[in-house]
Amino acid sequence: MNSEKVEIFDTTLRDGEQVPGCKLNTEQKLIIAERLDDLGIDIIEAGFPVSSPGDFHSVSEISKLVRNATVCGLTRANQKDIEVAAEALKFARKPRIHTGIGTSDSHIKYKFNSTREDIIDRAVKAVKYSKTFVEDVEFYAEDAGRTDNEYLARVCEAVIKAGATVINIPDTTGYCLPEEYGAKIRYLKENVKGIDKAVISCHCHNDLGLATANSIAGAINGARQIECTINGLGERAGNTALEEVVMIFNQHKDLHLHTHVNSRMLNPISALVSELMGMPVQPNKAIVGANAFAHSSGIHQDGVIKNRETYEIIDPEDVGVSSSSIVLTARSGRSALAYRFKHIGFEVTKNELDILYQEFLKIADRKKEVNNDDLNMMMEVFARKI
Ligand code: KIV
Ligand code: ZN
Repeated sequence: MNSEKVEIFDTTLRDGEQVPGCKLNTEQKLIIAERLDDLGIDIIEAGFPVSSPGDFHSVSEISKLVRNATVCGLTRANQKDIEVAAEALKFARKPRIHTGIGTSDSHIKYKFNSTREDIIDRAVKAVKYSKTFVEDVEFYAEDAGRTDNEYLARVCEAVIKAGATVINIPDTTGYCLPEEYGAKIRYLKENVKGIDKAVISCHCHNDLGLATANSIAGAINGARQIECTINGLGERAGNTALEEVVMIFNQHKDLHLHTHVNSRMLNPISALVSELMGMPVQPNKAIVGANAFAHSSGIHQDGVIKNRETYEIIDPEDVGVSSSSIVLTARSGRSALAYRFKHIGFEVTKNELDILYQEFLKIADRKKEVNNDDLNMMMEVFARKI
């Protein structure tokens, strides 16, 4: 069975930048955009041009800079937004307009005070107008996660007929369960006339901690684009984490899906985005957290020292981490202590280790983590005693 490509659409600079307090200036956005392009991202959502002159300027500069990826700008379903986005994208080698409107009953009633038919009409007009500027038009059905499938299928059919090349099915509120979201994508694949002319895209939020699981369920059921951000940054609880998606496809060859992202650049770009946005990465974050390859309990350490595969499913070098680490805490065993001594140049016999281990436990109970300075000090004291 041939593996199929899933396009990676990065929205760190648009949805990711909507995080409170995470404003980036144009220069910082350009640094990130260039790195995303090097990483092998297929589409970079550079911003929401009509939202401010600063965002317009950033999208325009990113359009000039990016060499390989498609550059995308977000709009609402109105002429002004679309005209401004088209202007901001005019220097892009591969421009895409990302236009759309809310399709759930709640959005139709409370945001637009409108009707289902009127929303389809506005969606079609927005896509047709976008097509007068660019060939590549992505349509988002905002709150598709809570939109009734039959109506959603009608919306999709109408916008594909109007020329949409990509259909984005956002779980805007992060409400769906993976099975439900996967079934929604399958329903659209099976019921939308003309669906083969468009790519289905997953755009999932993490309010229930399910954004990545939902995106993967979408891809398993036929979506071929996933929208995500570095470190899972984004509105409220964030978006699907790019690094998780890439590594899930890398590790699960059984899915027969792959991306063109260079996984070895994942940790460096995570650190860059974290630093520029001033948003620390949680230590236990999958793939890019400080503890993602750190082993601290005695049982795990003993296993990893014997063979890495016992407790590691990813080779750290594959995601740009030089090696996994054996962290010395009060839960560590003798083998971890001997391993770390060896690492700093001391080979110890079994008897020496027994004595040193008792000393080690006293220090470890006082401190959270025993470091190389502590180990050197222990050795000095030990050498004086014998
Ligand atoms: O979450 C969402 O629905 C969005 C759209 C604007 C694509 O970010
Ligand atoms: Zn979003």
